[in-house]
Amino acid sequence: MGTSVAEKVAQQTANDFLPLQGTDYVEFYVGNAKQAAHFYKTAFGFQSLAYAGPETGVKDKASYVIRQNKLTFVLTTPLKIDNPIADHIYKHGDGVKVLALKVEDAKDAWEQTTKRGGKSYLAPTTLKDDDGEIVLSGIHTYGDTVHLFVERKNYQGAFMPGYRKWESFYNPSDTGLLYVDHCVGNVGWNQMNPWVKFYEDVMGFKNILSFDDKDISTEYSALMSKVMSNGNGFVKFPINEPAEGKKKSQVEEYLDFYNGEGVQHVAIATHNIIDTVTQLKNRGVEFLKIPETYYETILDRVGKIDEDLKPLSELGILIDRDEEGYLLQIFTKPLEDRPTLFFEIIQRKGAKSFGKGNFKALFEALEREQALRGNL
Ligand code: FE2
Repeated sequence: MGTSVAEKVAQQTANDFLPLQGTDYVEFYVGNAKQAAHFYKTAFGFQSLAYAGPETGVKDKASYVIRQNKLTFVLTTPLKIDNPIADHIYKHGDGVKVLALKVEDAKDAWEQTTKRGGKSYLAPTTLKDDDGEIVLSGIHTYGDTVHLFVERKNYQGAFMPGYRKWESFYNPSDTGLLYVDHCVGNVGWNQMNPWVKFYEDVMGFKNILSFDDKDISTEYSALMSKVMSNGNGFVKFPINEPAEGKKKSQVEEYLDFYNGEGVQHVAIATHNIIDTVTQLKNRGVEFLKIPETYYETILDRVGKIDEDLKPLSELGILIDRDEEGYLLQIFTKPLEDRPTLFFEIIQRKGAKSFGKGNFKALFEALEREQALRGNL
């Protein structure tokens, strides 16, 4: 304690054996990629970028790549049975398969991580076309989720060899979504510390923040969380595990419906959360509702902020402060029928933490939803 998050991040930048340049893309395995791409374009304001499928020589799957600023999603669906993508969807429903990380040297990233105990998912592989080459490699992480290391410094094409540029006449305006701020994994009972150790030992990450069940419990459900950050702080992976409460933990509900460990939420940065969330709501994105009483005392807790409280309370945006500034955040409802993956929209105004002060209000909102599903 006593050391700020920024200081902790700075201390570990030296001697980083796995220098990461940020999130390259997030790949979702979904039941119907064509419709999912339409949903994310329409509701969240992504643009068409690239496509791979039978027309580009890929016989067993179709992938749609969409982009908004530095945020790139790949939506992939299987075309046939007896396919690992089909098995993934049968088991987990729609969800995140790949958290792809941009690196200078994908072969070195694979060697550095596998020699430290990372289980290989993809040995270094070079993909080439007329626009240059990309080197990919990858390791397994929690559940069936994987990290791919993407080296694209010698590639000028739209996305990757195997994909063609996807020109669309349908180009909904963007909503101000900028990049991945952090991605949270839900792991099983007593599995948080083993996965913290995995990110420390295999990927050289550091634990920059911890929340125990006293921080994160309501009358009913509880969880524990540790935030893992890479050396330069560009990549942050909080890891949650369920904790005992009076009733079922929200993490346990996720584990039941996802049939195992996986990505709980992707947090996406914006420079203007009021504008972004207003647009998302107008396009049908559903957010967790926060009781109005939250706003009655919020300024006593967080102090002076630049924004008017009225639009924040109307939209249900949460506020928290740490020693470096404050942040504004809001959480969508699950993006599929299973109560699994959701998004967070976050605007940081100096704060480098994750909204600990909002956990109670947030979890009470989550529990109302969980109770409606009969899972509390
Ligand atoms: Fe988050």
